[in-house]
Amino acid sequence: MSISMKDRVVYISGGSCMMARGTATAFLEEGASVVLGDLRQDLLDEAKADLVQKGFLSEKISTTQMNLTDLATVKTTFDDAEKAFGKVDILVNIAGVIIGYYKLDDMREEDWDLTFNVNVKGLMEMSREFVKRLKARNAGGSIVNVASNAAKVCFADMADYNASKAAVMNLTQSMALEWAPYGINVNAVCPGAVDTAMLRKCMEESIRLYGGDMEEMRKTWGPPQLGRLIQPYEVGRVIRFLASEDAVIIRGQAISVDAGNTRF
Ligand SMILES: NC(=O)c1ccc[n+]([C@@H]2O[C@H](COP(=O)([O-])OP(=O)(O)OC[C@H]3O[C@@H](n4cnc5c(N)ncnc54)[C@H](O)[C@@H]3O)[C@@H](O)[C@H]2O)c1
Repeated sequence: MSISMKDRVVYISGGSCMMARGTATAFLEEGASVVLGDLRQDLLDEAKADLVQKGFLSEKISTTQMNLTDLATVKTTFDDAEKAFGKVDILVNIAGVIIGYYKLDDMREEDWDLTFNVNVKGLMEMSREFVKRLKARNAGGSIVNVASNAAKVCFADMADYNASKAAVMNLTQSMALEWAPYGINVNAVCPGAVDTAMLRKCMEESIRLYGGDMEEMRKTWGPPQLGRLIQPYEVGRVIRFLASEDAVIIRGQAISVDAGNTRF
């Protein structure tokens, strides 16, 4: 299957992380230009160099420093993207945080707030800014939000993260409903265990609290149906499909991308 993305400009938040690199790869290989937005310029430079090393043209990749908890940068980051490529057609909201593992009784207010400020409010403000700009140029577009299977099945000791991803799933429905009249399609993906820095941090935290072994976890945390961890590019390909014209009849959905481990 080939989904042409020629002339499309894709903004990817959390742009330096592995999930973003896999997603950028999926879009770049179909001819899109990508803008990677994230907290640290050095890591954005590294992500860009990584993609260039894979053979993609440097001119097709732009980077912009931003912080989802500093709402002024939500505007400037789209200004940067437009300066680079003139427009943005597709927004992929990947940036997210998981602070750690703790019981509800022990959860600190600042951890709850940061989780929701990044995962929910930041994602919503990025989407609103993007849509404002699409409306201004009378253009349609698409948004893909990265939620998690944690939105559907609750994982132990991460109530803030679970709830934030459930909020993303629900917000995706509101966005799809309200922005459909403007030709803007919105969907979400709910990945299982993807081989990234965040997953590694979760494994380390799990070992610290409950014991266990990293090698064993790498073998068993992936969907049993797959028998391994999910790779970022595999999620990226589904994101690319949902952002494409071919997915115009899929709206407001939260698609599980965990090899059938979550059966809804
Ligand atoms: N790895 C998994 O198994 C998994 C599973 C389901 C969902 N997810 C979701 O996928 C997304 C990417 O996850 P990952 O595993 O690559 O995580 P990661 O921690 O490796 O990457 C997250 C990215 O978000 C960025 N970010 C964090 N706070 C930010 C802020 N305030 N402003 C801008 N950017 C910020 C980070 O700099 C980083 O680049 C997250 O939304 C995560 O919740 C991951």
